[in-house]
Amino acid sequence: MSEPQGYVLGQSARAARRLEIQDAHFAAVSERLLDELQVRPPDRVIELGCGPGGFSKRVLCRLGAGGVLVGVDTSEGLLAQASALLTGPGPARFEPTRADISELGPWLDGADVVLGRTVLHHVPMVEFMLGRLRTRVRPGTRIGFLEPDFRTPLARLAYLEATGRPELAPLRHWATAINQLYEVNRLSPDAGPTLARTLETAGYRHVRGSWFEGRSDQMMIENMAMFYEEVGPQLTAIGLFTAEQLAEQLAALRALAALPLPAVWGIHLVACEA
Ligand SMILES: C[S@@+](CC[C@H](N)C(=O)[O-])C[C@H]1O[C@@H](n2cnc3c(N)ncnc32)[C@H](O)[C@@H]1O
Repeated sequence: MSEPQGYVLGQSARAARRLEIQDAHFAAVSERLLDELQVRPPDRVIELGCGPGGFSKRVLCRLGAGGVLVGVDTSEGLLAQASALLTGPGPARFEPTRADISELGPWLDGADVVLGRTVLHHVPMVEFMLGRLRTRVRPGTRIGFLEPDFRTPLARLAYLEATGRPELAPLRHWATAINQLYEVNRLSPDAGPTLARTLETAGYRHVRGSWFEGRSDQMMIENMAMFYEEVGPQLTAIGLFTAEQLAEQLAALRALAALPLPAVWGIHLVACEA
């Protein structure tokens, strides 16, 4: 299988470090999703887009003997990192599976739970996959996702910038960059905000959705800076920044780290049953 067509972010050890920061960023809401889905031994859990395994580790901690976590991802590099992290002495088993989640496969067979964190927005026209997913799992299968919201907090950011906080402009440039990168690649940056209604219209039952504001601290800035470093060449290729502008934005972003900042993204938690 060739490297994924759709995944626009990095797959290196550095990218894994960004995802590690993201895991810390989303620690509380990740545990909350697992509570909501009542993940327990000996569930067979399918994780869509497991990446280097930060969320997977949390899932495995909930599974006892007989529990299996099937981690599905297109990136061989990230799956290898997940395997190194997760193949250990614990009672539950991790099964890395290289596959494109938009083409639902036999890896879904026997699922008690299907979940994913910050993955759906990487799938073009993800609603088609979500509708078909309902036909591929048993009624009652517990389904849950955490998806970022890169849009809603931006109105407050714009308001603050227009009312005496011009130094916040680098946050606006970053938000524009991530949204436009996803749009150019025909991904689904608004998957999170529309997810609960999407699942309801597909006929999933007992859909519960909630929204949480992202952090607005040093960790947010570090995550944003790593995004620039990872996808800088793509941002220049689509004409969003020159290399010089990118370097300026990176420096301006880092200079913000000591200031009180508004959150630039939020996260949607959505859970339901098939
Ligand atoms: C932002 S990362 C999140 C990783 C992990 N879920 C976490 O929270 O740390 C998105 C992951 O989805 C994977 N991915 C993107 N599109 C995919 C697809 N169509 N099929 C399978 N995996 C995909 C990427 O390779 C990457 O590992």
